Amino acid sequence: MRQKLLLGNWKMNKTPSEAKAFALASKDMVEYAVAHHIQVGVAPSFVCLATVKENAPKDCIVAAQNVNEHDHGAYTGEVSIPMLKEIGIDWVILGHSERRAYNGETSEACNAKIKALLANHMTPVYCCGESLDVFEKGETKKFVAEQIRTGLADLTPEEAKQVVIAYEPIWAIGTGKSASKEIAEDTIGFIRRTLRESFGAVAMDMRILYGGSVKPNNIASYMSAEDIDGALVGGASLDPASFQGLIDGMLQK
Ligand code: PGA
Repeated sequence: MRQKLLLGNWKMNKTPSEAKAFALASKDMVEYAVAHHIQVGVAPSFVCLATVKENAPKDCIVAAQNVNEHDHGAYTGEVSIPMLKEIGIDWVILGHSERRAYNGETSEACNAKIKALLANHMTPVYCCGESLDVFEKGETKKFVAEQIRTGLADLTPEEAKQVVIAYEPIWAIGTGKSASKEIAEDTIGFIRRTLRESFGAVAMDMRILYGGSVKPNNIASYMSAEDIDGALVGGASLDPASFQGLIDGMLQK
């Protein structure tokens, strides 16, 4: 059985004191989610990771939004895996469309980072998703399959099983235009079949999230789809009351 997962992507929001306030406010809702077999977490900016890790309940996943694949060295502005591990961070989001668009992050680069994380027994959350142009041309599946094959290239099935996939159509991120449940379900079902071609039966154990304008009032419809195992949520994850609303919505389906 794949455990349901709700992950908040805070992007470049919240100062350390704001992030700490959320962490302190999250105790009851994390306990509530865990009691209902939902895994929950947030991905704060690098400077907020330590304070969130220290102040959130231990069951709350705290994820970074990126990492460098090298352990140390002359990589100005970068953060390494040993740095994250020392403060207890073992989940990392990779390949988010904003990093692909503004920071030139490629699927090949993500592949190197995923391998480095897996070698350190950490959990990568690998994002994929198409632009509006690709969607309108009807080329979503071809595009997303390429992102998946390249990002997860050379992994063994046992390694692939540790990776969480997030499908986030770019045209639905932060736009308020969420993909319909049918579109999300169709693409995510396709992603699982693509994973099965590469990795065999473990594809059935891999978690695939939907992301893109997920809100407390629409999350239940995504969760009712067989292949959708949870959500990666930006805007609606910033406020504790809204985060609680997302958990409630997940339980409604
Ligand atoms: P959104 O962002 O929920 O604000 O659309 C989702 C994401 O980018 O992960």
